[in-house]
Amino acid sequence: MDKILVLDFGGQYDMLIARRVRERGVYAEVVNYDKITAAEIRDRAYTGIIFTGGPNSVYKEGAPSFSREILALGIPILGICYGMQLMSYLAGGKVVNAPEGEYGKVTLCVTDSPLFKGVPRESVAWMSHRDYVAEVPAGFTAVATTDKCPTAAVACEKKKLYGVQFHPEVTHTAFGGRMLENFLFEICGCKKEWNMEGFIETSVETFRKKCAGKKVLLALSGGVDSSVAAALMHRAVGDSLTCVFVDHGLLRKGEGDLVEATFKGKFGMNLIRVNAEDRFLSKLAGVTEPERKRKIIGEEFIRVFEEQGWALGKVDYLCQGTIYPDVIESGKGDASTIKSHHNVGGLPSVIDFEEIVEPLRDLFKDEVREVGLKLGLPPDLVWRQPFPGPGLAVRIIGEITKEKADLLRDADAIFREEVAAGMRGAEPNQFFAVLTDTRSVGVMGDERSYGYVLALRAVTTDDFMTADWTRIPFDVLEKASSRITSEVRGINRVVYDVTSKPPATVEWE
Ligand code: XMP
Repeated sequence: MDKILVLDFGGQYDMLIARRVRERGVYAEVVNYDKITAAEIRDRAYTGIIFTGGPNSVYKEGAPSFSREILALGIPILGICYGMQLMSYLAGGKVVNAPEGEYGKVTLCVTDSPLFKGVPRESVAWMSHRDYVAEVPAGFTAVATTDKCPTAAVACEKKKLYGVQFHPEVTHTAFGGRMLENFLFEICGCKKEWNMEGFIETSVETFRKKCAGKKVLLALSGGVDSSVAAALMHRAVGDSLTCVFVDHGLLRKGEGDLVEATFKGKFGMNLIRVNAEDRFLSKLAGVTEPERKRKIIGEEFIRVFEEQGWALGKVDYLCQGTIYPDVIESGKGDASTIKSHHNVGGLPSVIDFEEIVEPLRDLFKDEVREVGLKLGLPPDLVWRQPFPGPGLAVRIIGEITKEKADLLRDADAIFREEVAAGMRGAEPNQFFAVLTDTRSVGVMGDERSYGYVLALRAVTTDDFMTADWTRIPFDVLEKASSRITSEVRGINRVVYDVTSKPPATVEWE
């Protein structure tokens, strides 16, 4: 299969570039510039290479760079922003700091070049740079300009080396998609071979062979990744797979039943549902400190899983729902960006097994969802918003009791129903209810009430590292509030959280 290497020089769009390529039916993988050599690139037979942008200046000491040999491999290259500057610099051109930068939308004027086939002479492009290629390297020509930048794109057609100063991968660049297609299909000659049907077929075949006669265990959380991993693995190995679903009693309303109905009912899988509500609630009794709650749940989860694993006897493979962004993040070795809360982190060390298998480790989240739908998982499960491993424990402020968990479950379900009904297709990225430990006075039917204050939270975000509070329409909030206060006994006041992250976090605890 044709594959594109996205060589990452520290740009913020590395994954986006890979996505844009994959969306066009060509497999792409992201590798950090210092994790691969020119010889390895040649041996892995990439069909094309894309250099990403990055925050540096090529002439700064220690700036990310690469061996010049890469230009002589005969593999087409597209350099984007810093990637174009680096390619020009490696080829002998000169990069300098401009008196004025270009940020945001610009008018791009292009000439005849295979990269711009089907692109109008003038179109909108999106720039973010101060350095530029002041002297084009020998053998290259400038093939696009803007008002401020005489080298908005450069090309050495003979060697199929191209560079663009703007960002074709962002949607603000009107013909960016067309340019990427030109690079992939006209210049690299890629075939469209990457699609999810093919992926499923190959994976099923691979894991069927690999796992023949082996016992496979999977910790199913009910989240998208572990659900899709379970469905895929089940198609490959059938009854050799056992899924363990630990219901800690702090799940959303109906969640455990949906998981059971789907995996046991619909797919007929070996599913062990462990109803461990009492066990978790008794461990959590009296605990109010958020990190303590997380720790107790994490540890108890491992204990329960461990017991189930032992009961099964020797397990050969442990299957995990690791996905491609997790793989890239850990490959970068940048601890600050690695997920700090992994639901089943720590599991591998407690169960005796030969190997971890990760059937989704090549897929982006939306590809995982597509695979899930193609395997017949219900859309509700596939489109599910993120839910923290410790569940409602970090959404019940203060002490956790069954009564409070039930109150919160009911209120949360109403909020979710109203958002779904009132914002269909434009739902926030994550939205939920939080039960505070504050009680307030109210009046209900001439009687004084003294009930809990419930907070509603909804955020708009790409990556959950930063988030804005969602401007939910007032009528949706009103409907949710009036239904919650009338249908959920014990809650008499509803407030809406209007804090972004930072300074707040998405969850309250
Ligand atoms: P915060 O609250 O850190 O949340 O802004 C960012 C995203 O992470 C989720 N989250 C968790 N997920 N275990 C998880 O698996 C946890 O302990 C945890 N805490 C927060 C949160 O729901 C949001 O999507």
